This record gives sequence, C-alpha cells and structure tokens, in this order.
Amino acid sequence: MGEEEGGDPGALFEARALTVRFGGITALEDVSVSIAAGEVLGVIGPNGAGKTTLFNVMCGFTRPHSGTMAWEGRTLTHMRAHRLAGMGIARTLQGVGLFGELTVLENVVAGAERFRRTGLVSAVLGLPRADRDERQLRERALAALAELGCEDVAGRHPTTLPFPIQKRVALARALVAEPRLLLLDEPAGGLGADDLGDLTERIRALRGTTAVMLVEHRMDLVMSVCDRIVVLDFGSVIAEGPPAAIGRDPRVLEAYLGQEPGSGDSRGASAPGETQGASAPGGAAA
Ligand SMILES: Nc1ncnc2c1ncn2[C@@H]1O[C@H](COP(=O)(O)OP(=O)(O)O)[C@@H](O)[C@H]1O
Ligand SMILES: [Mg+2]
Repeated sequence: MGEEEGGDPGALFEARALTVRFGGITALEDVSVSIAAGEVLGVIGPNGAGKTTLFNVMCGFTRPHSGTMAWEGRTLTHMRAHRLAGMGIARTLQGVGLFGELTVLENVVAGAERFRRTGLVSAVLGLPRADRDERQLRERALAALAELGCEDVAGRHPTTLPFPIQKRVALARALVAEPRLLLLDEPAGGLGADDLGDLTERIRALRGTTAVMLVEHRMDLVMSVCDRIVVLDFGSVIAEGPPAAIGRDPRVLEAYLGQEPGSGDSRGASAPGETQGASAPGGAAA
C-alpha cells in the first residue's frame, strides 16, 4: 500500500491513519503525519494529547491498533526498534532516559551502535578488529559529547550531573547516531534561558540536513524553530500549518484554553500565542 492510497511520495517519513488504544483510552485516532527530509516539524498539544505515544509508535515501542508507516515511500511492515535506528531514526525521551548504571561515555557509545562493524563473536574472542571498532565508537561518542560541551563529564554517571547536562548527554546520544530523523520529546523541559538558547541554535543548525520532530510545550522554542506544526488534541490532529497560522488558529487556542480564545483555564500547557518570549500570533517568529 502507499502511493495508491494518496501517500506523500516526497516524505522522508510518513504515518498514515495511526490508531492506538490502551484499554478504553484512545491515545491516537486516525493520525496521519508526514515529514520531509531536513524539515523541522513541531508536534504540540495539551498533556495527554498523544504526542509521546506517536513517538513510541514511530520507534516500534508501541504497536498501533491500525495504520501504517512509510520510510522514503516504502511501507514498513514489521516495525522493530533496532531496524529503525539502522534506517536513521533516533530519539530523546521525555525527561532524560539515560542508563544510570553506565557512564556518560558508555551511554553515548550505545547511541553509536549502528556504526559497529564487527559482530559479537569477534568481540568475545577479543579479535583486533573488535578493539579497533570499539575505539572508533568511543571516538565518535567523545566527539558528540565535545560538540555539546560535555566531554569533561564522559567518565561520570549521568545521575550525578545537573539536569541540563543530563539533557545534553541525552541529545549527544541521539545525535551520535547521525540520524536522518530526530525525535525530540520535550527537550527544553527543565532548561533555563541559556540552555534553551543553545538548544534553539542546535535545532536550527540541524534544519536542512536532519529532519526533526519536536514535541515541546515551550512555545517560544516551537514557534521560532519549526517550519510547520501539527497540533494533537485527544489523540487527533486538529490543525496543521506554519507557526504563524497555528498561533492564531481558533481550534488550537480552544484546545489549549479549554474554551473560547481569550479566556479561561489552561488544561496544562500554555497556548501558542501566550508564552513569554513567544512571537505574537502571526508575528515575528523568525
Ligand atoms: N502505556 C500506556 N498505558 C495506558 N495508557 C497510556 C499509555 N501511554 C499513554 N497512555 C495514555 O494515552 C494518552 C496519551 O498519552 P501521551 O502520548 O503520553 O500524551 P502526551 O505525550 O501528549 O502528553 C493519555 O491518556 C495517556 O494516559
Ligand atoms: Mg508526552
């Protein structure tokens, strides 16, 4: 299936009509999303909207009740997490998600596994090519840490580090895989202004080379780095478009505010137009 069903042949990745249920809860309902190579796509929506579930399906952690996914126009049948990494999808988890019992360097080496050439047998036998392989993975990992300014903590355990540094290490672990599609689940959570500025620049630098799907509540970040935004609410896509249009879309404002634009309570996230530092709807979100 695919092209004949009106899929997007230009997409790097495409999810078609995904539905995910957990018992009586429908976490995703008929969700179709596509992303082009090098595009930065924001995925926003109130808490519980299904954003993390979408990433989990894309990574093969959660099996959808129905729907399909395609990579470069080819429908993926048996989704397996390790295959997706091999194809070029990497992600960071909501929170931190590093292995606490491994060092920072070992965590990032784990992210570079797709570059390992030698198999388990060579490694167990201690063959020279396995050593060389290991050394190269460590060099890649150190370079990724250096790129994020974290090489000095390579030997530490993640849990001993300040939260923003842990977030950087998690990003290094995703980037060391040199993904073609990077899934970021709330990368700005818990970051102060300096780290947020750094993250903003980093995502901008990826644009054009690495496709990024960004789940984030910090609307200043979303509005300033995304080419396009998809809005989920109660598991369904309720709006999609460029940041300026999304920021003034009445359906989006209603989803965030739980009622008519301009009044009332938030359901747990700030509305696209109202966060400090965010562009005014339709404004200078360059
Ligand atoms: N493993 C799970 N088991 C049961 N319910 C889940 C599970 N994962 C998510 N959900 C439910 O699915 C809905 C969407 O959750 P989630 O994808 O985490 O939302 P978001 O990331 O947008 O906040 C929520 O109602 C959540 O409680
Ligand atoms: Mg989530």
